[in-house]
Amino acid sequence: MPKVTFIKDGKEIEIETDDVGESLLQIATDNGVQMDTACGGNGICTTCMVQVQEGRDNLGEMTEREEIMGMDPETMDLRLGCQCKLNGDCKVELAY
Ligand code: FES
Repeated sequence: MPKVTFIKDGKEIEIETDDVGESLLQIATDNGVQMDTACGGNGICTTCMVQVQEGRDNLGEMTEREEIMGMDPETMDLRLGCQCKLNGDCKVELAY
């Protein structure tokens, strides 16, 4: 079962989930982690942006929407929580 570690306000919140293929936003929401979503998960605001600290390869391909919003497909260090899909363990810091 993949483990997602969210870092928010300097605190680490570990979640084990079998929601492989779900967005980080959905997993955060389902587990009581507050992630800002000004656009409601439509990929047009960046308030759900996360900095990936571990597990870049476990968050799926970067989407066209993420690239349009300025995420770098070369480094994959910033992702939109509403767009990237969980495939395995990762650790991400919420930007907001
Ligand atoms: S919630 Fe707006 S870009 Fe993800």
